[in-house]
Amino acid sequence: MFSEKAALRIPGPTPVPPEVTRAMTHSMIGHRSADFSNLLKNVEDKLRPLFGTSGAVAVIAGTGTGGLEAAIANLVLPGDGVLSVTTGNFGDRFADIAKRAGAVLHTLSYDWGTPANPDDIDRFLTENDHVKVVLVTHCETSTGVLNDVKTIAQIVRKHNAYIIVDAVSSLVGAKLPMDEWNIDLVATGSQKALALPPGLALVGISERALQRIKERPGRSLYFDLARYAKDLSNNTTPWTPPVSLVYGLLESLTMIEEEGLENVQARHLLLRDMTRAAIRALNLPLLVTEDQYASPTVTTVSTPDFDADAFRKILKNELHISVAGGQKQLSGKIFRIGHMGYVDAADMLQCISAIEVALYKIGHKIELGVGIKAAEEVLVRA
Ligand SMILES: Cc1ncc(COP(=O)(O)O)c(C=O)c1O
Repeated sequence: MFSEKAALRIPGPTPVPPEVTRAMTHSMIGHRSADFSNLLKNVEDKLRPLFGTSGAVAVIAGTGTGGLEAAIANLVLPGDGVLSVTTGNFGDRFADIAKRAGAVLHTLSYDWGTPANPDDIDRFLTENDHVKVVLVTHCETSTGVLNDVKTIAQIVRKHNAYIIVDAVSSLVGAKLPMDEWNIDLVATGSQKALALPPGLALVGISERALQRIKERPGRSLYFDLARYAKDLSNNTTPWTPPVSLVYGLLESLTMIEEEGLENVQARHLLLRDMTRAAIRALNLPLLVTEDQYASPTVTTVSTPDFDADAFRKILKNELHISVAGGQKQLSGKIFRIGHMGYVDAADMLQCISAIEVALYKIGHKIELGVGIKAAEEVLVRA
C-alpha cells in the first residue's frame, strides 16, 4: 500500500512542489529560440537577487559537484596555491577537486561537528601569501555545521585572495549575499533548498572573479564561466541547457519571490529551532552544540545508545519518513534531518512525532510527547 509513500526529510533531494512539477511538463522548446531567451532572462533576473550579486549566475547542466568543479576549473590553474578549509565530508571532496585541478593544496581541517575558526585562516594566509584561492563549505551537510562565511570572506579579501563557497545545501535556506560579503564564486545545486529535482548546477560569478577568469582562462571548455557570462548577456547558454529544469527553476524562483527571501530564511530558522528544541527535550545530543553554527537546513543528531541506521529503518519502514544517515566516520552514529525547501512547520511536527515513536520502539528512554511539546512551544512563540 505505502511502497511509494515517504516524507523526504533528508538533506537533498528534497520534496518538489506540485507547481514546479507542473512547470516542468511544459512542451519542449528549442534552446536557441526567443521563447527560451525570455525564459532564461526571467530566471536570471530572479537569480541575481537570490545570490545577492550584480554579476551573472551560470545555469549549468550538472549537479552541485559540477558547480564546484566549474568554480575551481576557472579560478585555479595548475600550480596555484589553494587553501581548503574542511569541516566534513563535502569539504574533503572540495579539496579533492582542487587537487585534481593541479592545485598546490593546503588544508585546514576541523573535527566533524566543529566550525572553521576564521582566525586560523587569517594566520595561514599571513604566513602563506602564495595562496590566492580559499575554498569553504557554507553548510557542511555531513555534520550540519554552518560556517561563518561572512567573516572568512572578509579575511580572504584582506589578503587579496579569492574565495569560492560551496553553498549546495545552504543557498536560499541561509543568508549568503555574495557582493555584500565579498564572495567571488558561489556554487549550488537544484535538489536542495530550491526544491527542484537534481540536475542543475548554479554558479554565481562576481565581477571580480569574472575579471580574474578573463585574465587567466582555465582549461575547461564545458565549464568556461567567462563564456557562460558572455552568453548570458545575450540571454542564452553555451550548450544545450536542461530546458525542463529551467522551466521548473523559474517556478521555484517565483515561489521564493512570492514568499520573500527573508521570510523563506526565517522559515528555515524556525524549522531548525523547532527541531533542535525537540531533540534536546528527547535527551539526544546535537552534533553541533552551538546554535550559532547550526545550519538552518539540516540538523544532525548523535545516537549514543542505539544504532542510528536501525532507528532510520523503523522510521522509514513503519512511519514512512526518510531521514539520512551519517557519512564516513559518523556512519551508524548519527542521523541527519533535512528541513529545507518545500517544508513547513507542520511537516516538522509530523517528523518529530514520528521520531519519538521510533525512539520509543528502539528502546531510547523518553516520555512520549516531550519532543513535540518543545517544538510546538518554539512554533507558537515565533
Ligand atoms: C555541501 C555539499 N556540497 C556538495 C554536494 C554534492 O552535490 P551533488 O551531489 O549535487 O553533486 C552536496 C550534496 O549533498 C552537499 O551537500
